[in-house]
Amino acid sequence: MRVLGLLLFFGLNVVLATQPPCVLLNDGNKMPMIALGTGRGTAKETDTLDDVRNAVFWAIEAGYRHIDTAAVYGDEEQVGQGIADAIAKGIVTRDQLFITTKLWNDKHARDQVVPALKESLSRLGLEYVDLFLIHFPIATKEDGSPDNIDYLDTWKGMEEAKQLGLTTSIGVSNFNISQIDRLLANSNVPPAVNEFEVNPTLTQEPLVYHCMSHNIAVMAYSPFGFLVSRNRPDAPPPKYDDPIIGAIAAKYGKSPGQVVLRFAIERGLVPIPKSTNQKRIAENINVFDFELSAEEIAAIASFNKNVRVIEIDGWKDYPNYPF
Ligand SMILES: NC(=O)c1ccc[n+]([C@@H]2O[C@H](COP(=O)([O-])OP(=O)(O)OC[C@H]3O[C@@H](n4cnc5c(N)ncnc54)[C@H](OP(=O)(O)O)[C@@H]3O)[C@@H](O)[C@H]2O)c1
Ligand SMILES: *[C@@H]1O[C@H](CO)[C@@H](O)[C@H](O)[C@H]1NC(C)=O
Repeated sequence: MRVLGLLLFFGLNVVLATQPPCVLLNDGNKMPMIALGTGRGTAKETDTLDDVRNAVFWAIEAGYRHIDTAAVYGDEEQVGQGIADAIAKGIVTRDQLFITTKLWNDKHARDQVVPALKESLSRLGLEYVDLFLIHFPIATKEDGSPDNIDYLDTWKGMEEAKQLGLTTSIGVSNFNISQIDRLLANSNVPPAVNEFEVNPTLTQEPLVYHCMSHNIAVMAYSPFGFLVSRNRPDAPPPKYDDPIIGAIAAKYGKSPGQVVLRFAIERGLVPIPKSTNQKRIAENINVFDFELSAEEIAAIASFNKNVRVIEIDGWKDYPNYPF
């Protein structure tokens, strides 16, 4: 009820359908409240692209209806194969799925956006995606050097993609408060979604509040934060064996990972846990049968240190660097 209250307060509506529940976007589209992450950044050395195909299939089998990919992940083909496998086995139909992909930084010119999405669709083997995001507000040339394309121009290309029916919804990723405001003030179609990092050590209260008060849904990437290994000796708590998270997990008969995902859901966010492990994929969606108390939410939020898992140092001097 708390989640519902928060979302209704901000004008978003939760659609109580089959599990998992959905968030109603500002354009009328419905987005399932948990997505499988397929970004390769946290893949083990032994992970192959075929693991992505299996992960997507296992996820759909376990009840996921939302998959998050991106052109830059280089795995849209395998994501598409996993989807095709699930459809061929009769587990779902295309219209029951919600597929998100993203425009990379080197395709920001207005007239590059639709062709880039068509290439993503061809790799995915789909006729449309449900959500297309500008991956970063930063534009680069193909060699990765900075380019001076305004994301407002990129957004016009995104609006064209939506108008053509190549994507049902359009949104952004890694946009900060000022960039959201500038986009809202200068566009015909407001972004339906902003996807950015949120976890116990990066709770992002101001940006979350800002998005929700403008009816922009939030997708939370790297939702585990430093709970899982990031190969950072200086990683701040909570780690997987944290006693506070552990006590909450024990109380509900859940794992530390499930508690941290539920923390995002209680805030009305759509977490994007990545896993290629069949057991953990199933574990991560099994978070809709318990609720955290206000005290527990506050205890988890007090881990916040505004420390990022994803920090792209090489872009610090680029125009529109958002962090
Ligand atoms: N828009 C953007 O700029 C952006 C940036 C970063 C990420 N993303 C999206 O967000 C997704 C998730 O982000 P992320 O991969 O950085 O972080 P994450 O999902 O927070 O963490 C993934 C790591 O946690 C492990 N894991 C998964 N479930 C677990 C569980 N229940 N218990 C213990 N460990 C578990 C995974 O290993 P196993 O696979 O072995 O389970 C993997 O090493 C990405 O895949 C991508 O789709 C978007
Ligand atoms: C957002 O990013 C822009 C571009 O780098 C920067 O000028 C601005 O100060 C940032 N705004 C916030 C609220 O972080």
